[in-house]
Amino acid sequence: MFTQEEINAIHRVIKTRRDIRSFLPTSIPKELLFQIIEAAHHAPSVGFMQPWNFIVISSNEIKKKIAWAAEKERRALSIHYEEDDRADKFLSLKIEGIQEAPYTICVTCDPTRGGSHVLGRNSIPETDIMSTSCAIQNMMLAACAEGVAMGWVSFYKKADIRAILDIPPHIDPIAILSVGYTNHYPKAPILETAKWERRRNLSQLISYEKWGRTTPTSEE
Ligand SMILES: Cc1cc2nc3c(=O)[nH]c(=O)nc-3n(C[C@H](O)[C@H](O)[C@H](O)COP(=O)(O)O)c2cc1C
Repeated sequence: MFTQEEINAIHRVIKTRRDIRSFLPTSIPKELLFQIIEAAHHAPSVGFMQPWNFIVISSNEIKKKIAWAAEKERRALSIHYEEDDRADKFLSLKIEGIQEAPYTICVTCDPTRGGSHVLGRNSIPETDIMSTSCAIQNMMLAACAEGVAMGWVSFYKKADIRAILDIPPHIDPIAILSVGYTNHYPKAPILETAKWERRRNLSQLISYEKWGRTTPTSEE
């Protein structure tokens, strides 16, 4: 179905993609932006409910307000790190590039889409958010493949974002994504380079037959 070259490319995109917080002021072509959004729209969703909407923001005034909401939250969160002396380090981390990036996309989730009996969602209500996250991942991979940088910002109070973007109360603002070009596309996650966190050992996250059985049974 796919050539080896295509298979290699998708693995390369998955492993190359990074969360970016520094952007150049250069704008990106509208067609490219919509191509990235189209990738999102092809994501899987529970009962095919497609709960997402995309608010494309280029207004500096609105980006400034969103950046303010993120900064307010960042400061509020720093208190959690005071006990282990990581507050200064936390505050030194760059966690967004909203005002630098030419575009911000707010991805929302409408839990009411498709009515009250969306196939499969009765069992696990959060599947609407899971579906929206799949859409966001598609966007990030498409952006990476196109050489476009994207940064996910989740430091905000939903009420602030709803107020800034006129989002109705039943709609969930799932993600604020900064989109643009960068001249610094790191090889490793920024939080790894900053020695905040590192990638866990995959073999310790896989178990066999039951939770916690870290060695395969003899049948494997
Ligand atoms: C749900 C979610 C929320 C995130 N929120 C933020 C954020 O508010 N600020 C930020 O700088 N990075 C944010 N990130 C990016 C992560 O920090 C990043 O994915 C992680 O450090 C691994 O780096 P990588 O994406 O470059 O592999 C978020 C990522 C996810 C999936």
